[in-house]
Order: sequence, then C-alpha cells, then structure tokens
Amino acid sequence: MSATRSLEYDVKDIDLASKGKQRIEWAEREMPVLRLIRERFAEEKPLDGVKLVACAHITTETANLARALQAGGAESILIASNPLSTQDDVAASLVSDWGIPVFAIKGESTETYNRHVRTALDSHPEIIIDDGSDVVATLIKERGNQIKELIGSTEETTTDIQRLKAMETAGVLTFPSIAVNNAQTKHFFDNRYGTGQSTLDGIIRATNILLAGRNLVVVGYGWCGKGVALRARGMGSNVIVTEIDPIKAVEAVMDGFRVMPMSEAAPIGDIFVTVTGNRHVIDGQHFEKMKDGAIVCNSGHFDLELNLVALREMSSEPQTIRPFVEEYKVKRSGSRVIVLGEGRLINLAAAEGHPASVMDMSFANQALSVEYLVRNKGTLQPGVHLLPAEVDTEIASLKLKALGISIDALTAEQLEYISSWETGT
Ligand SMILES: NC(=O)c1ccc[n+]([C@@H]2O[C@H](COP(=O)([O-])OP(=O)(O)OC[C@H]3O[C@@H](n4cnc5c(N)ncnc54)[C@H](O)[C@@H]3O)[C@@H](O)[C@H]2O)c1
Repeated sequence: MSATRSLEYDVKDIDLASKGKQRIEWAEREMPVLRLIRERFAEEKPLDGVKLVACAHITTETANLARALQAGGAESILIASNPLSTQDDVAASLVSDWGIPVFAIKGESTETYNRHVRTALDSHPEIIIDDGSDVVATLIKERGNQIKELIGSTEETTTDIQRLKAMETAGVLTFPSIAVNNAQTKHFFDNRYGTGQSTLDGIIRATNILLAGRNLVVVGYGWCGKGVALRARGMGSNVIVTEIDPIKAVEAVMDGFRVMPMSEAAPIGDIFVTVTGNRHVIDGQHFEKMKDGAIVCNSGHFDLELNLVALREMSSEPQTIRPFVEEYKVKRSGSRVIVLGEGRLINLAAAEGHPASVMDMSFANQALSVEYLVRNKGTLQPGVHLLPAEVDTEIASLKLKALGISIDALTAEQLEYISSWETGT
C-alpha cells in the first residue's frame, strides 16, 4: 500500500498514470451520454459529500464513471471486481490525476482482492456500486453494524441480480439495491453487443487464431450468448449453441444456429465460450471428449463456469504457452485442451472489456441510479429495485442524439388510437 498527497491507494505502478490518462480521455470521446451527466452533476452537485465505494472492472470506461461521480460531489473509493480485469495505467491515473483512491492491481491474488473489499468497507460507504455483489455480501456477512449507514447499492451484472434476489428472499437485504443490469439500455447493448465484440476480441488477442471456418460453441443463449453467437457468425465461424432453457434453445434454432447438448458439442467444437452465469457448464466428462487443441474460455461473471479443478486433476501440469493461454494435456485421451485467461472473463483478462460506446449507456444507468438513491434517501423500500422506465428512455434518447440520429414521434391521432380500446375492425 502507498500514499501520494496523503492519499491511500494500492496500484501496480503510479508512474503509469500519464498513459492511463490518455486512454481515459480517448474512451471519453465515445461516452457522450455520461459526459452530459457529468456536466449536469458538476453544476447541481447531487452527490455532495456522499461516501461511495465502487467495486468495478478498473477500465477506462469505469474511470469516466468515477469522474462523473466525483463531479457530482461524491467521495469515492474504487476497488477491482475481478483480479484479472484491472488496467494498471488507469488505476494509476485515477489516483494521480483525479485524486481518487484505487485499490486494484491486475493479477492480484484472491487474498489481496478480499483485503481490498475490506479496505473499501473501512471507509463506511453510504452508497455501494457493486459488480458481482462481493462488497454487499461482505457487508451483510461481516459488517452488519455498518448497514444502517448505507443509503443503498447498485448491481451491474446479471449473475448478481440473482444473488441479490436470494438475499431478499433470505430477508438479509435490508436496504434498497438497484438492478442496473435489468435496465434495457444496459443489457440489450452491453451484454449483447459489448460482450459479443469484446469476447471475440479477447480470444483473438490471446491466441491470434482465425475464427473463420471453426466450430465455435456458445454455452448459454442469453443476452451475452446471443451477442457472441451473432458476432462469431459474422467472422465466419460455424456456431453451435448449448442451452438448458427450451425457449432460448428454440430462439437459437430460429436464429439459424445448431443446437445440441454439451456432450455432443464437446467432441466437435474448436472453440468454446461459456456465458451462462452457472457453475461447471463444461465439466470433466466434456474436457475428456474434446479434440486435440480445443480452446476453452469463459465470459460469464465468475470463474467457475469451466470446471478447472476437474481439468487439473485429469491432466498433466499445465504449460503457459503465451500470456493468458495455458495448455492442459488430458492424460486419458492424450489431447491438449487450451484454457484462456484462467477461466476468468476473457474479454477483460485478455482484451480491454466492452467498447466505451456501450459502457456509455451502462454507466449512465449507474450514475443516474446513484443519484436516484441519494435523492430518494430514506423513502425507498428495502429490496431489489428497477430504475424508472423514463430514465431508460431518456438514456436511449440522449444516445440517439449523440449519434446524430432522429426518430419519429407519435402523432396526436396515433397516440389516441393506441391508447383507446374502442376502435376495432
Ligand atoms: N463478459 C462480460 O463483460 C459480461 C457482461 C455482462 C454480463 N456478463 C455475465 O455473463 C453471464 C451471462 O449473462 P446474460 O446477461 O447473458 O445472462 P442470461 O440470464 O440472459 O443468460 C444466461 C443463459 O445461460 C443459460 N444456461 C444456464 N445454465 C446453462 C447450462 N448448464 N448450459 C447451457 N446454458 C445454460 C440460461 O438458460 C440462459 O439462457 C452472467 O454471469 C453475467 O453476469 C458478463
């Protein structure tokens, strides 16, 4: 841990700041909606003096969210939401150029990661921005006496909305939490187009393989899976989908993809991408059937979608071939299975995460959720909340404006027609 201008922080190398600043400002060019929010926040100061902890992927886009929150008057601390997703130059720049304490180092151990979560809680936050529920879960499990200080929290990703709902059912979610992921301007774009593009970007940067002509298996056809499948098809891959939900499976079939169980996909896939939010969706029996050289990676939130414990047990010692590329030799079949990014989010481990243009809308939702919580302090019921639908529409309208695209408005006649029940055949 180090300090600059009496600021506590834990980053890899503070001298990386100037490179980070350049990249943060580059991302800002693609984030016009968040910039408008930052400018309004700077005038209105809706978060004046609010103590905030943001547990997020420390990327250029998150840095721009932190700038908006700071402009609104928040006193923020940032920690990594994943040991492999931190961009060390961005962490350095946030500390050095904006005076925001950051506790995040790419490749940090689980122990350090957990220590940072506790350091963040030591600041007694009134607002928690979570991406993976780890801060909220630690608060509930270990710091019950601090819950009364909390105005509320927000959650970024799909998997952890489920965790929050489980906390609600168990009666331990005693404060309001906004499900940012469930805003349409978040998951329609971030999960689908963001994950779609950046997951392939991660695979390509890690391996430099050609996707054309390869059998690419997408495990889970939710929002992220649809994006990965769509973009992989665009790159010429033969996409195969595996699912457990009959409706999603029919959707994948009608979208033109082959659908089959993992036991059938395992021996024919060249590349496997898991995006389910579920555990061990590729398991020992699947690794055993894979072709020599099959590439396996995950873009779901946690690193347990691939059962790497089983793979380790059934293989000889893994060899690191290139950064983020490890080769396991399966003893029984003799085949080599290539695991990317240690089974962690490949788009953040080996690439830079989502492009700024989609994070513009996701983080506009985050900034407006924090403002909503603060403005409605003490009036919201405990439990999982959605942002009001008007906010979604407003974010989409601002995005269209920034893109220079205008759309039609309902005429008075149309409005009357769709609001009435009397007109029929
Ligand atoms: N990589 C990123 O940057 C990024 C971005 C957004 C979300 N996420 C994460 O990606 C994961 C997926 O998010 P989503 O929004 O697509 O969720 P989703 O709920 O829309 O989709 C998940 C799909 O996986 C399917 N599934 C579950 N178990 C399965 C199994 N055993 N085999 C095959 N399919 C199975 C479900 O039926 C569902 O259709 C979550 O963990 C989410 O937190 C990652």
